[in-house]
Amino acid sequence: MWDKMTSTDFNKRLMDGMTISEENHLKINGVDTVALAEKYGTPLYVYDIDLVLNKIRSFKDAFKCYEKKTQVAYASKAFSSLALYERLAGEDVSLDVVSGGELYLALKAGFPADRIHFHGNNKSSRELREAIANGIGCIVLDNFIELTMLEEITEQLQKNINVLIRVTPGIHAHTHDYISTGQEDSKFGFDLASGQVEKVIERLMSSTYINAIGLHAHIGSQIFEVSGYEAVIDKLMKKADEWRSTYQFNLEVLNVGGGFGIRYVENDAPLSLSVFAEAIMTAVKKSSNELNLELPEIWIEPGRSIVGEAGTTLYTVGTEKEIPEVRKYISVDGGMADNIRPALYQATYTGVLANRVNDDSVEKVSVAGKACESGDMLIWDIELPEINQSDILAVFSTGAYGYSMASNYNRLPRPAVVFLENGEDSLAIRRETYDDYLNLEISHADRTK
Ligand SMILES: Cc1ncc(COP(=O)(O)O)c(C=O)c1O
Repeated sequence: MWDKMTSTDFNKRLMDGMTISEENHLKINGVDTVALAEKYGTPLYVYDIDLVLNKIRSFKDAFKCYEKKTQVAYASKAFSSLALYERLAGEDVSLDVVSGGELYLALKAGFPADRIHFHGNNKSSRELREAIANGIGCIVLDNFIELTMLEEITEQLQKNINVLIRVTPGIHAHTHDYISTGQEDSKFGFDLASGQVEKVIERLMSSTYINAIGLHAHIGSQIFEVSGYEAVIDKLMKKADEWRSTYQFNLEVLNVGGGFGIRYVENDAPLSLSVFAEAIMTAVKKSSNELNLELPEIWIEPGRSIVGEAGTTLYTVGTEKEIPEVRKYISVDGGMADNIRPALYQATYTGVLANRVNDDSVEKVSVAGKACESGDMLIWDIELPEINQSDILAVFSTGAYGYSMASNYNRLPRPAVVFLENGEDSLAIRRETYDDYLNLEISHADRTK
């Protein structure tokens, strides 16, 4: 059984940093996941923090040869926690937050404010005020009402703020290609085709406290091709060249967003981070040469590609139901409450039985969650060894948009989060308890006091 571990087929199923122990258990970062499930309970999110840091460093390294500065801003909507923000504070990385809540947690963690970028299509006046009062590095300006609020707040606080103009460029990447739509129907940013960007630049150029340092565009997620980034760079650099002469707009920074694809299932073949970086730098240099435009700084904001593959969720198998000639369901102790992506986007996942990784796969099953929703399915078809109650199922690549989108649906407590670093495990977020619910609840007696 042990020798199968080296088969190419099998290795394809494991993710970076994973091995198999002599007891045939899945290990992540050298730590036995079956022991983790026993120690912390399930469902359990497990993050290989060394892998997270490696991804960040790989992006940084990939941009090293660029002549101007580059910034990698981790899009923390993918997964945020005090412990992660604390860990990243000491790294050469910036942070993208999208709400007052993420900003609050990042500042509490001691993340340097000047390395934080603030995104969002409906930032409140309070959120903007807090961001500016705390001296954050940059706001990604999304719309005209936000601009008016920013003008008022900076005037009141007598503080300057750097902004990037979020542009909806009319280019949208679908996983394997991109489409040019002319006018992009999106709630985010200033529409390029209808001239909104020119209007906002005109206003910004006469602003006292708001300093427009560049442009931002995010073309999609789970992207496996470089062509969408090349197209958006070409388009925005040409526009920047026009705006240089019309408005004296100086493109100091070009932020091309996130969206770099990762491996969820065996068939996903993501490009390496260095291929994306190389293509982005080449496209920027090409445009800058052709247009005689000074090279801008390049900023990116990856989320999924930093934390996605580094996260694994451990579940305990409970009940099963077999419908002859149709399918066999096995149910686990989590589901849509800790991973909404399959229900929300038909996202696909794979995994292994963590306590018998190398056993032969003998049946195809469907993995159901425990919520009272027929749509609460984690994996529709997966080949697994014979499954018994209390087996531990490890679902791979759940590190992005899992915990951060988790809910208490059906009053299921949010799982704990464990970090693995240098072969050691530590609790990063404790498991929610039923008592935690009571912290927010007001009883009849208290309401009618
Ligand atoms: C503006 C922006 N930047 C970055 C990201 C991160 O994308 P990903 O996690 O796919 O890298 C998103 C995701 O929705 C986004 O909307």
